[in-house]
Order: sequence, then C-alpha cells, then structure tokens
Amino acid sequence: MKKITAKYPSNIALIKYWGKYGIQLPMNPSISLTLSEAYTETSIELFEKKSKEIEFNYFFEGKSNSKFSDRVINYIKNQEEFRPLLDNYSLKIESKNSFPHSAGIASSASAFATIAALLLKVSSTNDQSLDFKKKASHFARLGSGSACRSFQGPYMLWGKLDDVSESSNEYAIQVNEVHPNFQKMQDAILIVEDEPKKVSSSVGHSLMNNHPYASARFKDANKHCIEMLSTLKSGDFDSFISITEREALSLHSMMMTSEDYYMLMKPGTVSIIEKIFAFRNDTKLPICFTLDAGPNVHLLYPEIIKDKVEKFINEIKDQYKFVIFDKAGKGGEVFEK
Ligand code: PMV
Repeated sequence: MKKITAKYPSNIALIKYWGKYGIQLPMNPSISLTLSEAYTETSIELFEKKSKEIEFNYFFEGKSNSKFSDRVINYIKNQEEFRPLLDNYSLKIESKNSFPHSAGIASSASAFATIAALLLKVSSTNDQSLDFKKKASHFARLGSGSACRSFQGPYMLWGKLDDVSESSNEYAIQVNEVHPNFQKMQDAILIVEDEPKKVSSSVGHSLMNNHPYASARFKDANKHCIEMLSTLKSGDFDSFISITEREALSLHSMMMTSEDYYMLMKPGTVSIIEKIFAFRNDTKLPICFTLDAGPNVHLLYPEIIKDKVEKFINEIKDQYKFVIFDKAGKGGEVFEK
C-alpha cells in the first residue's frame, strides 16, 4: 500500500468543553476557531506482518515516543473498526508538528485528527457513501475530545444544542453562517510559559464531576453557544468579545474552585490580559483574549486591524517568551505521499 499522509490543524475553543461523560461525550456544547499554521502532519504505512505480536512503530519528529505510542495503540485496540489493522498488519506511523513542542499548544487535537483520518482511510469501515469528515470527527473525538473540531472551519460546533438540529455530541459540525467580520480571524498566541502543564485536561474534566458550580457552568456554556452562533452570524464584535473572554475566565474559575483546586494562569497571563483591556479601552479596536487549559494568551482580532495589533504585541514583548501568529483555517486533508 502507498504511504498516505494527513495534515490537520489545531483549534482553539471560544466556548469551552470542560467536563465529560461516557466515552468522551461533552457535558456541554462548545464552539471553536479552527487554526491553520499550527498543524500536525502524520503518515501511515502498512506492511506485511511477520509475527503474531502487535507490530506498531510510532515516530514523532524522527524519534520513537513510547508514551504517545501506547496511547495510540490503546486507542486503536478500543475501536472495533480499527482493531483489525493491528491484527493483520505491521503499522508504521510518522508524525510531526508545525509548531515547537514547547509552544504550549495542545497538540493532541491536531495529532488525533490526523490519526483518526488516516485509520479511517485505510480501514475497511471507510464507506465512501457516508460523510468522511463527520466520521473522522467522531473517531478523533474518541482519541481526544477537542480533536473532533479540527476537520472543517473556520468555526465548529461540537455538542447537542437544541436550536441546531444537525448538532451532535458524537461529532462536530461546521458553523455555516459566519459574518465577514469573523471570517479572517487572527490568533496571536503569546507564550508565557512553555513547560508541560501540571494538571492534565483529563484530570480537569473529571473534577467537573462533583464540582459545586457544574450545573450553572453547563447551563452558561449552552447559553453562550446559542449567543455565539447569532453573534457569528450578525458580526457583532462587542458580543464576540464579551462571550469569548467570559468563557475563558469561566474555564479557569472552574479549575480554581474545584475540590482539588489549582491555577494554570501565571502572573504574566494576568498582566497581558490587563494590557489587552487597556489597549482596547484606548483604541476601541475589536481585540480580545481567550485561554486554553494553560497560561498562554490567545489574542484574537480581525485581519483588517492586523498591523495595529502586531505593533501592540511588539510593544508588550517583555510580557511573553515568544509569539506564534496563527489565523482561521478550514481544516485539512488526507493525500498520498
Ligand atoms: O480535548 P481535551 O480533552 O484535551 O480537552 C480540551 C479542553 C479545553 O481545551 C480546555 C477546552 C476545549 O474546548 O478545547
């Protein structure tokens, strides 16, 4: 079989997925911006098997990575549809990221998007009559929740929302109505800290299980999804800013108020947020921030004000270690290479 390659980007949630049940199902719907510069490229080759043992070789940037390799083997074993690949072939997977390891960008979203898409392509379950992106999104979700939102763009909705009949907890769908104001969104990721985070997202999700504010949080996220969909349609920057920033702080407040409380924001995170508030107040430009489950600040702004915002980013360069300029994307593809 020819070597095939998949290239899919990471995504940043505007409305956050935080809390899950069953097999990677979200406690609330989420909406994300698909990125384009931060992506993973993964290739797969299938060879004839020489033994009865599992033959699986996973290389990340040229080196074998046993921790991630074990996670992928387990993932494949757990999917009835993919398991025959391990039983019948020797698999070689090579993966690389376009962004540095230490960038604080969650690579599991882009990585699992590529892995799910490739496995789907090479497995017999790839019935071409069904929507490939939807199926790939479903399988990516089983590897890493947020990965299901990396297949299309620029905006994706994952999770059942009563107002949107096609929405599902199983996979993400593209947000169809997006005003030109939000089509060319930029995301400058200001890296405050580039060490691995101390508390994993899976621990964070599980702390929502008996969180005292859980039901209010899930209700809020639902409301924010509905509001964000109408905001994306109408092009209202003020509403986009207030929903996005509230969501980021709400995510971090959940971490800070869980039974095993913790804090991922650093003094540098807060300091940058204050500078963004001041800059916005002075210039009235439509910029805002969001945060992932980590200390780094995603600065969001439309392309039309790029020069002014980049000047601002440069003026505050003593506040962060480095910056990655990313922007809205449309997902990725699988190709022969
Ligand atoms: O996909 P996971 O399990 O790594 O969780 C992602 C959680 C957040 O990044 C904080 C929010 C989100 O919706 O992506």
